[in-house]
Amino acid sequence: MEGLTILLFCTSLLSILPLSTATDTIILSQSIRDGDTIVSVGGTFELGFFSPDNSTKRYLGIWYNKISTRTVVWVANRETPIIDSPGVLEVTNQGILQVLSHNESIIWSTNSSRLVQNPIAKLLESGNLVVKDAKDDNPENFLWQSFDYPCDTHLPGMKIGKNMVTGMKRYLSSWKSADDPSRGDFTFELDPRGYPQIFVKKGLDELLRFGPWNGLGFNGALIKPHQLCKFSFVINRKEMYFTCEVAINNSIAVRAVINQNGVLENSQWNDPTQSWMTFRAGPTDNCDSYAFCGPHGYCKIGNSPECSCLKGFVPKFPRDWDTSAWSNGCVRKTSLDCLSGDGFIKYSGIRLPDTRNSWFNESMTLEECKRVCLNNCSCMAYANLYIIGKGSGCLLWFGDLIDIREYSEDKQEIYIRMASSDIGMNLSPKLRKLSECLTF
Ligand SMILES: *[C@@H]1O[C@H](CO)[C@@H](O)[C@H](O)[C@H]1NC(C)=O
Ligand SMILES: *[C@@H]1O[C@H](CO)[C@@H](O)[C@H](O)[C@H]1NC(C)=O
Ligand SMILES: *[C@@H]1O[C@H](CO)[C@@H](O)[C@H](O)[C@H]1NC(C)=O
Ligand SMILES: *[C@@H]1O[C@H](CO)[C@@H](O)[C@H](O)[C@H]1NC(C)=O
Ligand SMILES: *[C@@H]1O[C@H](CO)[C@@H](O)[C@H](O)[C@H]1NC(C)=O
Ligand SMILES: *[C@@H]1O[C@H](CO)[C@@H](O)[C@H](O)[C@H]1NC(C)=O
Repeated sequence: MEGLTILLFCTSLLSILPLSTATDTIILSQSIRDGDTIVSVGGTFELGFFSPDNSTKRYLGIWYNKISTRTVVWVANRETPIIDSPGVLEVTNQGILQVLSHNESIIWSTNSSRLVQNPIAKLLESGNLVVKDAKDDNPENFLWQSFDYPCDTHLPGMKIGKNMVTGMKRYLSSWKSADDPSRGDFTFELDPRGYPQIFVKKGLDELLRFGPWNGLGFNGALIKPHQLCKFSFVINRKEMYFTCEVAINNSIAVRAVINQNGVLENSQWNDPTQSWMTFRAGPTDNCDSYAFCGPHGYCKIGNSPECSCLKGFVPKFPRDWDTSAWSNGCVRKTSLDCLSGDGFIKYSGIRLPDTRNSWFNESMTLEECKRVCLNNCSCMAYANLYIIGKGSGCLLWFGDLIDIREYSEDKQEIYIRMASSDIGMNLSPKLRKLSECLTF
């Protein structure tokens, strides 16, 4: 205890010394040279120059200060390494943060559209590097922040999504390789079309989809709210984003990384073992692979083959199906007859189909939802948007139903449009009731 008191005393002495290295800010007249670092106020993050393992190139980056295996969470000049000289980081009086090489050429710089009296750069405890007026701590007035330009790592407080006013997108992109932080093939991003969803993509190709947000988590997805992070999904006129708002226990480091193989890994630091513990990673199986069974296909691990058709659908090309080529999916056995009346089959325990071609309303009831769907001949399915309580809101699907898999943990229900003859609407009321309850 006495030792601790002395230690605390010493660190507080240090922090009043003018040239203390334990600062979290860079002011106008200062610069950070290769070898110097700044540390966030609680000691969680450190900013400085580094080289990845097996590389001699120099990068400006942020890593965990207290974690023994260096874990970089952000890189500034990921596309423009410094090759042959020590770099320098400085703030200009225009409020621009820039990295210079020894011959003073600018290697990397930030943007700023505004002038302030006394611009400084500060590394926050969240791991966010911000440029702001020295006196102004309001995040809305930051001139620039690294959280707007994520690399491969999501930290609590960072948004993944799109600003609808400025058009700015925030998404994760993998490193090219373990020793090269430049932009690799894989991204983790929000797709704003229809009811917004999160995808892992390789270039333009979808690899993995996190089912629609149902108010509590992503339907049929690997990311679920857990005890370490408070997730939220926000959609309004100004922005749409997904975030882990706060780490629930600040003393445990949590992060999500899209790695160079396209795997999204969630992990937390485990002090006793001095290692990262990965607690959720994906994709895990064939059924996670986007649209594995094609349109109107249904994927179930443990079935042989894993792909089958939804009830009332048959393989589009049966011969493909025999050779395990499922991507063309399934078509209806009986065409819909919108005008003389269709019905619906209810499913639960599945991951809901891709919502990029969908429409949603947050306040409609399930009854209203059904009515709207029935009255629109191109509506193929409907569901409650949110599952909290008895469920609320309305989600309507148009076009093909894609990327459905068995997911027994999820009880969110979906009603898929069928020709009345396929669901026994001509049966006795009692039997009809039975058939409406059909589920997998
Ligand atoms: C500075 O050095 C880089 C390479 O190290 C070179 O490409 C650039 O032309 C140099 N700039 C000046 C102004 O000499
Ligand atoms: C600066 O702004 C330009 C144009 O708006 C943009 O293309 C570029 O990515 C921005 N760079 C940074 C580091 O913010
Ligand atoms: C660095 O090189 C060694 C030997 O080639 C290799 O075992 C190690 O995995 C490499 N590390 C990284 C991060 O690439
Ligand atoms: C936070 O995590 C630390 C380390 O595991 C633990 O000792 C502490 O009790 C936790 N605090 C809360 C409020 O859960
Ligand atoms: C959603 O539905 C409610 C109730 O039917 C309606 O009042 C509201 O205008 C709808 N909102 C949108 C954006 O369509
Ligand atoms: C059906 O819904 C689609 C998508 O919202 C819309 O474009 C179309 O106009 C609707 N059709 C009818 C007849 O309401």
